[in-house]
Amino acid sequence: MSYPYQITSLEQYQEAYKKSLEDPEKFWQAVAENFQWRKKWDNVLSWNFSQPKVEWFSGAKLNITENCIDRHLAVMGDKPAIIWEPNNPEERTRVVTYNRLHKRVCQFAQVLKNNGVKKGDRVCIYMGMVPELAYAILGCARIGAIHSVIFGGFSAQSIADRLDDAQAEFIVTCDGAYRGGKDIPLKSVIDDALIGNKTIKKVIVYTRTRTPVSMIKGRDVWWEDEMLFAEDQLEKEGTINFPAAEMDAEDPLFILYTSGSTGKPKGVVHSCAGYMVWTTYTFVNVFNYQPGDIHFCTADIGWITGHSYIVYGPLSAGATSVMFEGIPTWPDAGRFWDIVDKYKVNILYTAPTAIRSLMGFGNGPLQGKHLDSLKILGTVGEPINEEAWHWYDENVGKKKCPIVDTWWQTETGGILISNLAGVTPSRPGWATLPLPGVQPLLVDDQGNEVQDKDENGYRKGNLCIKAPWPSILRTTYGDHERCRTNYFAAYPNLYFTGDGALQDEAGNFRITGRVDDVLNVSGHRIGTAEVENAINMHAGVVESAVVGYPHDVKGQGIYAFVIDSNTHGDEELTRKDILQTVTRIIGPIAKPDKIQFVNGLPKTRSGKIMRRILRKIAEGETENLGDITTLLDPAIVAEISKGRV
Ligand code: WTA
Repeated sequence: MSYPYQITSLEQYQEAYKKSLEDPEKFWQAVAENFQWRKKWDNVLSWNFSQPKVEWFSGAKLNITENCIDRHLAVMGDKPAIIWEPNNPEERTRVVTYNRLHKRVCQFAQVLKNNGVKKGDRVCIYMGMVPELAYAILGCARIGAIHSVIFGGFSAQSIADRLDDAQAEFIVTCDGAYRGGKDIPLKSVIDDALIGNKTIKKVIVYTRTRTPVSMIKGRDVWWEDEMLFAEDQLEKEGTINFPAAEMDAEDPLFILYTSGSTGKPKGVVHSCAGYMVWTTYTFVNVFNYQPGDIHFCTADIGWITGHSYIVYGPLSAGATSVMFEGIPTWPDAGRFWDIVDKYKVNILYTAPTAIRSLMGFGNGPLQGKHLDSLKILGTVGEPINEEAWHWYDENVGKKKCPIVDTWWQTETGGILISNLAGVTPSRPGWATLPLPGVQPLLVDDQGNEVQDKDENGYRKGNLCIKAPWPSILRTTYGDHERCRTNYFAAYPNLYFTGDGALQDEAGNFRITGRVDDVLNVSGHRIGTAEVENAINMHAGVVESAVVGYPHDVKGQGIYAFVIDSNTHGDEELTRKDILQTVTRIIGPIAKPDKIQFVNGLPKTRSGKIMRRILRKIAEGETENLGDITTLLDPAIVAEISKGRV
């Protein structure tokens, strides 16, 4: 497969960028010609950000799985689509060719059909990183059901909330998942999530860990039995093929929940055609993908990075995508390097938090690893500090691999700002330039485009985007108004990212982090309001305030200030109780790193918590806490500052 839209020089990038702005319809139409459509579009783009309403390729008919699988079969059927590396390096590797992927996805689509799943139904997927997770996702897409993957680290309560919000009727899960030295009992978490649930009709359970599970008659079925039955059915008809559902360009493809600044996660909705075009286009261009390259994205498919750059983008480009079940530090901190050598990985895409954590083990785990297959490195999820960037460059890339710093979000579907590997220049800590079709700008709090430059010639402001790219979110599930107020209302006619950024005179962007009450902990988005809600559920907690503080490995750590009425209790025990409560309500990823018990919180006379002061205290600032004269009780600040943990 070759990619006529592949950008191979800086001049070509500049040219493409210019054209994409002058005539977006012409530009994206030309890119879209490289996909397989049942019927082409009537209209390339129509949009307004005030509702918001965005439509790309409307009138077109397609199925994304025909693009990710079927169209590759004739010439690349025997080529690996997915190479799976198990948690335990002693266990057998699995290589899934495009032919095999086709068969399994068709079988699973039949399984879904047999269990009553129809186009448009919501299917929740809660699995570990096994190839069956990819079959489940693509099986949904093939039948036109909307998948909603939930990361394996979320608790029963979080799952229950998401099932309810999506009105999901089906679940695909595993008995358990292996992650490093741990077995995570996924099915049992699902069972807890289903207590009181009224919408779920069927639960399909894949056997991975052989941990005992309870199977409820009439509701729970085994993946293996269902797949065999489906295979028989399909074979009876002579060939294994499950005809893909014909989808409208704008039909929803999936929901993925993500944190915002309110207490409740939002179900970000992506649609079929635009998402397909964007993830493929960006995969090929950002990573400079060459046919035959082995691509290894270390993310979990429970997050958007895995959706777009393990599954949809690479497969649609006919690439080989490595999928890893385990964690970077097990059985030792050389695991990524072993995988790179074992499969001769060419492109490695990971998160700054993983790099920092591996850096902490020193260079020992790199001894004896060749890493000579590597051509391109990438990072995603949070700003990368220069120290980590250089470590990655010197020790992993041996100074010969371009590093792409890719900025994007769940809501953007794919990469929006990044250098293109080996094509446009990289710069440590900078995501650099926007992809064709992306028009970022920086505004001040009033929404005026920032003009002033600092002494370095940098502009600084809130990062917005002026016009839609094909994979912009279409809505938040079940609540379009929420989508509008969250992303399109802060500044009229702009998509607001929630991030702050700098821009230099050449137009390069450096993302500085969130400007709203959202934390980025190990590259995972966590809303402070969600953590506060969870803490406040603990008996005895009167009120709490959560802020982020710089953390060497996680990027940001979670610092909670808690007013606890149980003043005579054992503080250490209460602290543990609170951690347990957060684990129950959200999941272990949201556990505060530090909890400080306080007698009061700094509030304005109108009752608003002054987080800026708490943030400074959490960061270790003692002197310069800013103006505290407007506080109801200014004395509380000194007291809190003294008690910092
Ligand atoms: C942050 C992950 C700096 C940012 C794909 C964004 C980044 C949030 C970068 C989205 C980067 C992502 N440099 N910050 N290269 N990439 N971020 O939805 O704050 O999990 O808003 O999507 O991660 O996180 P999400």
